Amino acid sequence: MHEKVASLRGEIEAFGTDGSAGAEQFRLKYLSKKGLVSALFEDLKSIPAEQKRQAGQILNELKQLAESKLKDLQEGAVDTGATGAAGLDLTLPPVANKVGNLHPLSLTRYRIIEVFERLGFSVADGPEIEDDWYNFSALNFPPDHPAREMQDTFFIQKDPEVLLRTHTSNVQIRLMEKSKPPIRSIMPGRVYRNEAISARAHCFFHQVEGLYVDRNVGFADLKQTLYHFAREIYGKDIQIRYRPSYFPFTEPSAEIDISCLICKGKGCTVCKHSGWVEIAGSGMVHPNVLKNCNIDPEEFTGFAFGMGIERVAQLLFNVNDLRLYSENDVRFLKQFKSVI
Ligand code: DAH
Repeated sequence: MHEKVASLRGEIEAFGTDGSAGAEQFRLKYLSKKGLVSALFEDLKSIPAEQKRQAGQILNELKQLAESKLKDLQEGAVDTGATGAAGLDLTLPPVANKVGNLHPLSLTRYRIIEVFERLGFSVADGPEIEDDWYNFSALNFPPDHPAREMQDTFFIQKDPEVLLRTHTSNVQIRLMEKSKPPIRSIMPGRVYRNEAISARAHCFFHQVEGLYVDRNVGFADLKQTLYHFAREIYGKDIQIRYRPSYFPFTEPSAEIDISCLICKGKGCTVCKHSGWVEIAGSGMVHPNVLKNCNIDPEEFTGFAFGMGIERVAQLLFNVNDLRLYSENDVRFLKQFKSVI
């Protein structure tokens, strides 16, 4: 009897630390009705009366040891080696599963789309690999026009030219070619330019193109649409201004600035101490562009705009280094969880 108890004690003490863990397995093996400890109590019956008292005491101690071991196993307090679960407290609430979150540029894109969808704009898409016609010629860039040089193009092939689009304006052409006015669309996407990568420039970034072509579309529609957009995205206190500019595909053309949200107009590095930040180029669609897409400029007019998603996001989230958007540093990305 004494030997049996001693060997069981050893087994019980060692249980689980070799990876054999499992509170229920332990209970079945030692403490259930047919378990090894219970069997010893059966043996007690056949022991001579004068030894019973002492043997009973030893057995009770063994049972207590087994019961406290069971409790430890149930609470995960035994280092099973397999899980390294020493000190694990199973009564604690579970750690929530980590789910990813949207990239700040996706959040911004969805937000922009949401605003324009409510105004009746649909969302269109186009290729990132283009030819000269869609990226330049149809958009009224004359051959050898310096504006082609301005947009440091990545060429994939010369003659015939195949290139990475330098702007989302290519989708305007594709849309007007295949559909008749009224056209009211926004076109988000990635664009490429041969620029040295720095905090302020990147060789790829994102734009949202906008196009509204119908009868009697005027500059006032453009102004009011983008003013509405700026208020929806940045709040009612935002101010907006239009600066005359030049794009081959619009006439007249304007650049759109909003009041700097970082310094509230006081002047900072983001707004280069002017209190204003440029967010988009825009204008009335040039008659030549309409003609290139078989739309009669005598009957239809339109406005267009193109804005940088990184810039819109920068002012939403106060991010001052463009490179952060593509480095995929989790410490950066996980900060944008609950914005939408
Ligand atoms: N495509 C221009 C760029 O990448 C942006 C732009 C300006 C788009 C004026 C337009 C527009 O549709 O009307 O710089």
